[in-house]
Amino acid sequence: MDYKNVIVEINDGIGVLKINRPKALNALNSETLIEIMDAAKALESNPEVRVVIVTGEGDKAFIAGADILEMKDLTALEGMAFSQRGHDAFAALENMQKPVIAAVNGYALGGGFEVALACDFIYASEKAKIGFPETTLGIFPGFGGTQRTAKLAGLAKTKELIFTGKTIGAQEAYDMGLINKVVPHDQLMSDVMALAGKIKANGPFSIRLAKQLINRSLYMSTDDALMLEAKDFGLCFATKDQKEGMTAFVEKRKSTFKGE
Ligand code: CAA
Repeated sequence: MDYKNVIVEINDGIGVLKINRPKALNALNSETLIEIMDAAKALESNPEVRVVIVTGEGDKAFIAGADILEMKDLTALEGMAFSQRGHDAFAALENMQKPVIAAVNGYALGGGFEVALACDFIYASEKAKIGFPETTLGIFPGFGGTQRTAKLAGLAKTKELIFTGKTIGAQEAYDMGLINKVVPHDQLMSDVMALAGKIKANGPFSIRLAKQLINRSLYMSTDDALMLEAKDFGLCFATKDQKEGMTAFVEKRKSTFKGE
């Protein structure tokens, strides 16, 4: 697929998916949502790619939300389909078997912050501005924000953010547990690339299993999740990566994982 609104770059095992509509502050129209889904699937199936970074083009915005011009005259059924399109695109990010890091480089509002929340975790520039302005538009977050925010920040903080539509800075979002780290603006991509490099050096299959378990455990009883943990832990011992990792430890050398 040729992309108009996203850029995909792959460098040394790290895939960067950049939302690229800077004139509209990278706002998400349907075309962009479809491209995000396609790009996520392509990065997932590319064996070269071990870690994915999602960011926004330009210096001002990660993503300033769903496209208000496209939404303005939607009917109820079209609104539902638009929400579903967002859910499908972000599920492709959330369910990717590889780690996905959001590098929030500016405004991450509404649907923009919902993209970041579908990633495994978020690093943000100190200049990032985060929030859910949807209720100021007579709607509410419809790309997963009502669900994914509460899992990180709790119900009460989520309600305050959504009911007020206020915008908060990166530090406040960090204090609420929404983002993992605030970094100087100019250092954001280099810090996230370094982090991706560190993750890339570890066993891909074990990271994949850990990610699945952590994500699924939200919907399972602790007993069921622990049973699955024991099975998946056992499964690691069927991989060449586990043999390599432990042999390297014993031989006092650095391991080289192949994801096998
Ligand atoms: N949709 C469509 N276009 C958008 C947009 C959006 N969400 N956000 C910004 N743009 C466009 C503006 O219309 C403007 O285009 P023109 O130059 O053609 O007029 C361009 O991007 C630059 O924006 P501004 O001139 O407004 O830039 P600013 O620096 O003055 O303000 C901003 C920046 C505070 C982010 C402001 O653009 C803004 O408030 N944007 C809307 C944010 C928002 O409400 N997001 C939530 C959308 S609803 C949603 O996401 C629903 C959902 O959950 C599914």
